[in-house]
Amino acid sequence: MYFDFDKLESILQAHGSAPESLISVLEDVQDQFRFLPEEALVLIGTRIGVPVSQVYSVATFYNAFSLVPKGRHLVSVCLGTACHVKGAGEILGHLRKQMRTDSSGTTEDLEFTVEDVRCLGCCSIAPVVKVDDEVYGYTSPQKALEVLEKYKKKT
Ligand code: FES
Repeated sequence: MYFDFDKLESILQAHGSAPESLISVLEDVQDQFRFLPEEALVLIGTRIGVPVSQVYSVATFYNAFSLVPKGRHLVSVCLGTACHVKGAGEILGHLRKQMRTDSSGTTEDLEFTVEDVRCLGCCSIAPVVKVDDEVYGYTSPQKALEVLEKYKKKT
């Protein structure tokens, strides 16, 4: 998949060439491209002096990183205990089915990635769905879908 090498170059220059900057560089690349392109991992390793195998290890260890493109909006459905007992599993299944996500939870138009997470820290308003930085409580399969409709209209 195409990505902008100039943007990657800017990120690398901003962090310098110390091997310790690996995670910070990966975080910025993930933010910028919404995934870690394979070519970028090779270039990052070369530029900051970290073996590519180690770059891959870090990139695949943390859930915050993805080797496949994620959607423009990240939808986190909490499956922690409080949310689970209030039907969060049905919300997750409903969203993925209605939005026809692929096996990684991403819609074909790359607008949304629907993923499950553990406790978001607001159990009193369970079940909880978070879209980007916005938290929605007392949701249901239908309410969650309506919330996402609002995001479809945003540019
Ligand atoms: S279990 Fe969902 S917010 Fe705590």
